[in-house]
Amino acid sequence: MKEVLIQKAKEAMMQAYAPYSGYFVGAAIQTADGSIYTGCNVENASYSATNCAERTAIFKAVSEGHRKIVAVAVCGGKGGERIGFFPPCGVCRQVMAEFCQPDTPVHLIGKGEECKTVPLKDLLPHSFGSSSMEI
Ligand code: THU
Repeated sequence: MKEVLIQKAKEAMMQAYAPYSGYFVGAAIQTADGSIYTGCNVENASYSATNCAERTAIFKAVSEGHRKIVAVAVCGGKGGERIGFFPPCGVCRQVMAEFCQPDTPVHLIGKGEECKTVPLKDLLPHSFGSSSMEI
């Protein structure tokens, strides 16, 4: 399934709408029932209205009733050329934390067949979550 997720993220990257930065980003997530949702970055002339690839994928899944994410894959590069890992931004890590578990694998896709898998807790340690509001 990891390989499928990686392939889907690579394909989604090519759908990027990135006329301002030129950076194409793709994400694929797997939900608890085995469904896969993909996303790309969608930029905006205002810049701040830009949506990252990871959040596009997550919001697609949640809006269709899937609230449990069990794996994530992300890739990106200028014009869609992957020259290295494209780590998720802080906002996307926070959104992942809402719907993932601390051990959820995040596959960081690099150049060629390169892939580094890290648990979400390594990307966002000491995260703020719903339990943070119960103190
Ligand atoms: N971008 C993502 O899609 N995901 C991230 O986690 C980091 C940044 C996009 C936003 C923008 O369209 C481009 O990459 C350059 O920042």
